[in-house]
Amino acid sequence: MGKRYNIAVMPGDGTGPEVVEEGIKVLDAAAAAEGFVLDYTYYDMGGEHYMKTGEILPDQVVTELRQADSIFLGAIGHPDVKPGILEKGLLLKLRFDLDQYINLRPVKLYEGVKTPLANKGPEDIDFVVVRENSEGLYAGAGGVLKRGTADEVAVQESINTRKGVERCIRYAFEYCRQRNRKKKITLCGKTNVLTFAFDLWERAFYEVAKEYPDIETDYAHVDAICMWMVKNPEWFDVIVTDNMFGDIITDLGAMIQGGMGIAAGGNINPEGVSMFEPIGGSAPRYTGKQVINPMAAICAGQLMMETIGEEKAGARIENAVKKALKEDIKDLAAGKMGYTTSEVGDLIVAYVKNL
Ligand code: IPM
Ligand code: MN
Repeated sequence: MGKRYNIAVMPGDGTGPEVVEEGIKVLDAAAAAEGFVLDYTYYDMGGEHYMKTGEILPDQVVTELRQADSIFLGAIGHPDVKPGILEKGLLLKLRFDLDQYINLRPVKLYEGVKTPLANKGPEDIDFVVVRENSEGLYAGAGGVLKRGTADEVAVQESINTRKGVERCIRYAFEYCRQRNRKKKITLCGKTNVLTFAFDLWERAFYEVAKEYPDIETDYAHVDAICMWMVKNPEWFDVIVTDNMFGDIITDLGAMIQGGMGIAAGGNINPEGVSMFEPIGGSAPRYTGKQVINPMAAICAGQLMMETIGEEKAGARIENAVKKALKEDIKDLAAGKMGYTTSEVGDLIVAYVKNL
């Protein structure tokens, strides 16, 4: 008997359930081919559930999720729920409560996929962003005074702890070493203006770097990173940055790798339970239409397999996705794929079995 894994599944809102279904089809095919079993426990959390019950994320669910081997998430966000409620109450709460302090976002252009960058190909676009996922502007520090008056004051502080920053940087160096490509790590900051926060980041970065003499270090300000990601994406191997900058540059990354249809991410607690998600959101206008691209969810499944130690299953999924992109699916945009959501899943399942 092969191993068994207990996977918590949160399909969530909008197109989340559709893409999660395809992700699971592909995961099951990969698990069967590699001789292990994935058991799923479904959690019906998200906007619909909140509107029906007023409940966002019960403590009991968090307690159960702590026992899971991994979490597979569709999308959180509902057009009828005020922005911030589900994002903070569910997605960010999970990231924080489970101390998923790394947000890992590969930016990889596969052969056959169109990028908006002229004269750039798969050999130029292949890097990973390691985004700090537990602090920074996302920590929720700050407050508001005299709200709604002419004297209103709003303060939102970026929290950067030496421990939090250092563990993120250390993860990025380890990841870079194991990835074993250019062996180059770029710190993305803003040392010329955010002279408290990024002074801490910079010192931690160069101190940790001493333990990794095999890895080349580089630094760029976040605005310049945006420029270089468009002009010279081939310079990058691993980029490490804080929560807010990481959020912003990974949407840019998603675009240069072919769009939200293929962009996946992992919220990782290297010592605990991690959570994998397509990064594109709930896409409410496409809900239930079977036009959304499930590849981002499928690639999130691949990241999950790599993280739980089933690298062969991960490689199988990646190769199947590559083959489908090379041979079948020419446009990744919702409604333009020439296949339904579930047909894309079926196609990739077939390749997972036969590669
Ligand atoms: C992401 C999203 C989230 C974030 C939102 C939905 C809270 O944009 O995962 O990048 O800002 O982290
Ligand atoms: Mn984002």
